[in-house]
Amino acid sequence: MQLGLFENRPNYFASFDDLVDYMMKMEDDPLFPAGTNMVIYRGNPAAKLMIIGEAPGTNEDRLGKPFVGRSGQLLDQILNAAGFDPEEDVFVTNAVFRLPPGDDGKPLRKPTNDEIDYYQPYLLEIIRLIDPVIMLLTGNVAMQSMLGQTGITKLRGQWFDYNGRFAMPIFHPAYLLRNPTRTPDGPKALTWRDIQEVRRKYDELVR
Ligand code: URA
Ligand code: URA
Repeated sequence: MQLGLFENRPNYFASFDDLVDYMMKMEDDPLFPAGTNMVIYRGNPAAKLMIIGEAPGTNEDRLGKPFVGRSGQLLDQILNAAGFDPEEDVFVTNAVFRLPPGDDGKPLRKPTNDEIDYYQPYLLEIIRLIDPVIMLLTGNVAMQSMLGQTGITKLRGQWFDYNGRFAMPIFHPAYLLRNPTRTPDGPKALTWRDIQEVRRKYDELVR
C-alpha cells in the first residue's frame, strides 16, 4: 500500500499545500546540491487526469513549472486534440522534482535509479492528495517510478490498476519529437490511439 512508504518519515501531509510548502523548502534531497529548482506541478489540483513526466528540463527549471518547453507544447497539443483543457482538466507533475544536471554541462541527463527512488514517496503523496482517477505515465522513468518496470514500447496503451486508479504508460513527448514519422504504426499514431482510449475512459469514469 503506497501510504506505508511515508510511515518512517516525520512528515505526513494534511493537505497538498502543506506538501508543496515542505517540498519547496527541502534541502536533503539528492539533487539539492546541484542547485536546481524544485519544480512540482502545473494545472488544476482538482483535476481527475494526472500526467506524470520524467524530470524538469532547463525551461522547467527556470520557470518552476513542469512541461513548459517543447515537450510541454506537444503534450498540450495532444491533450487539446482529445478535448482536454490543460489548465482545467489536467494536473501535470514529474517523477523527479529537480533538473538532473548533466556531467558535461548538458542539461537533463536521465535521472538515476537512486534519484527516482528518493523522490517516489513524494510523487505518491502528490497522488494521494490530488486523488486522480486516471494517470498517464509518460516514458520509462515515470513507468519505473510508478510500476517498478520499464518497457514503454511494449506496455504503452495498456491500463494498469494502481490501487484503484487507472494508469496508462504512453510515449514521452520528447520521444515523439525525436521520432516524428507519420506511419500508421509509428509512435505518433500509437499515441493518438492511446489518447483516444484515455478520452473514452475519462468520459466513462469522470463525466
Ligand atoms: N520532460 C519531462 O519529463 N518533464 C518536464 O517537466 C519537462 C520535460
Ligand atoms: N524511451 C523512453 O524513456 N520514453 C519513451 O517514450 C520512449 C522510449
